[in-house]
Amino acid sequence: MRPLRIALTKGRLEKSTAELMGRAGLDCSALRDKGRKLILPVGEMEAVLAKAGDVITYLEHGVCDLGVVGKDVIMERGGQFFEILDLRFGKCGFALAAPAGTDFYQGYQIKTIATKYPKVARRFFQSKDMDVRVIKIEGSVELAPLLGLADGIVDLVETGATLRENGLEVVEPVADVSARLIVNVASMKLRKKEIEAFAERLERELG
Ligand code: PRP
Repeated sequence: MRPLRIALTKGRLEKSTAELMGRAGLDCSALRDKGRKLILPVGEMEAVLAKAGDVITYLEHGVCDLGVVGKDVIMERGGQFFEILDLRFGKCGFALAAPAGTDFYQGYQIKTIATKYPKVARRFFQSKDMDVRVIKIEGSVELAPLLGLADGIVDLVETGATLRENGLEVVEPVADVSARLIVNVASMKLRKKEIEAFAERLERELG
């Protein structure tokens, strides 16, 4: 049988994941010293480094058994998999933000929202029975209200510095976000023992 394969989100989450797996006793030396390699041994497992959305794609197609991905991507993309553990790093939140000092909700005209996360934004306003126009932006969404394209944004807020430095403020929090351990549906049945043992090792470290 091939080693259990875990897809890791490249970048910020990758470092925290390696750190947690290291604390849990897995040998992460190859991950720390990876160069440009994309598949690396981690303990008895194999780690695959991928972009967040692709972590879910590889997992759903069954070529990876496990994945580490942000709840933001899970909320926006959805999919068929089990979410089995909150890893408690990569903490931030989705928020509705608008230019500081303005009343976002005032007036009757339909508001325009810029976001990298159109599904999350639509769901949030649907839950308020509020009609909005959603415009998808690829990054630095804070620009949209500054340029007069949008009344507000739905975006990730971590320290709040990006909002502050661009004259924006949180109107309302939308959802908490952190990294999650996800599992392919078939792997959860076929390799349940190994997967549970791995999740328990991580969970023990999380305290
Ligand atoms: C994220 C997010 C905000 C910023 C929030 O952007 O979209 O812009 O971080 O962090 P802060 O509250 O600590 O300032 P990211 O750096 O991922 O780049 P992006 O805007 O290109 O998506």
